[in-house]
Amino acid sequence: MTALPIVVSGMRPTGRLHLGHLHGALVNWVRLQEENRCFFFSADWHALTTNYSQTATIKTAEREMFVDFIAAGIDPVRSTLFVQSQVKETAELALLLGMITPLGWLERSPSYKEVRENLTDRDLALYGFLGYPVLMTADVILYKALRVPVGADQVAHLELSREIVRKFNGHYGEVFPEPRPVLTEAAKVIGTDGRKMSKSYNNSIELGEPAESTRKKIMGAVTDPQRKRRQDPGNPEVCGIFYLHKIYSDAGTVAWVDANCRTAGIGCVDCKKKLLERLEPDQERMRAKREALLARPRDLDDLVEVGNGKARAVAQVTMAQVRAAMKL
Ligand code: TRP
Ligand code: SF4
Repeated sequence: MTALPIVVSGMRPTGRLHLGHLHGALVNWVRLQEENRCFFFSADWHALTTNYSQTATIKTAEREMFVDFIAAGIDPVRSTLFVQSQVKETAELALLLGMITPLGWLERSPSYKEVRENLTDRDLALYGFLGYPVLMTADVILYKALRVPVGADQVAHLELSREIVRKFNGHYGEVFPEPRPVLTEAAKVIGTDGRKMSKSYNNSIELGEPAESTRKKIMGAVTDPQRKRRQDPGNPEVCGIFYLHKIYSDAGTVAWVDANCRTAGIGCVDCKKKLLERLEPDQERMRAKREALLARPRDLDDLVEVGNGKARAVAQVTMAQVRAAMKL
């Protein structure tokens, strides 16, 4: 077997994914499958760092997420799909890394400060929340990941991971490679209200949403606010529909939208209908895939169980090396 580079990434299970997740992250994961050995997991322990009081929904959210991964094109045979909490070695490694991670590094993490300021409805003065990047480091180095596809917001976490790895290797010998972020340019996806597509804004279009509701959301979506009437010229750069055209339509159509929006050669209704010609079939393809997967829940469980086993096998080898290096 040729040794392909290891890629690891995870997502917190928050339920069904939307087009922002698809074009921001999943399409990159799908592409990475070609030339890497990929591990993609549900970060259910990470979900607890902020949602410790609502644990009942995690498992269903996780199922929906895995279904979406596969509907988006993740091949569960080629890539390993697994659940963070089902690889207990993750916890052991996180604990050991905690012994050498300075508090100052964690306290300075930009997302630590930011999330604490934004989620004011709950107490986040918690050990687990502070340790988020330590757990994340364990997630990736347990598999000796070289490349970690993440959004820009996670790059600081991975920088911390690299520092933790350097410190570990310095104390105990070269056990881990330094994981590097893979920042593939993510397509911009704007929600139906003109803001960034996000579940919490209630402006998203889910993967595999039925044609009717996809159509309804697109036809009702905010466009360039300057185009109040059909004859008003517009600016596609400020319109979410244009960014979706860039993802779904061919270059000729994108150029057609670009030119005719600016001259009021087309109306927004024409523009949206043109988009739906491409978007609807893709949504339908994912809807059918989702439905087929959800109809066979046991198969899905088996698949994740196989993934858990594969991940665990790698994790056990690494942990044997870690214990030996640390003389434990
Ligand atoms: N922190 C990531 C997020 O919120 C999720 C995550 C947890 C992750 N562990 C990871 C991503 C390891 C990449 C690698 O999106
Ligand atoms: Fe947006 Fe298209 Fe309308 Fe221009 S014509 S504002 S790109 S929907």
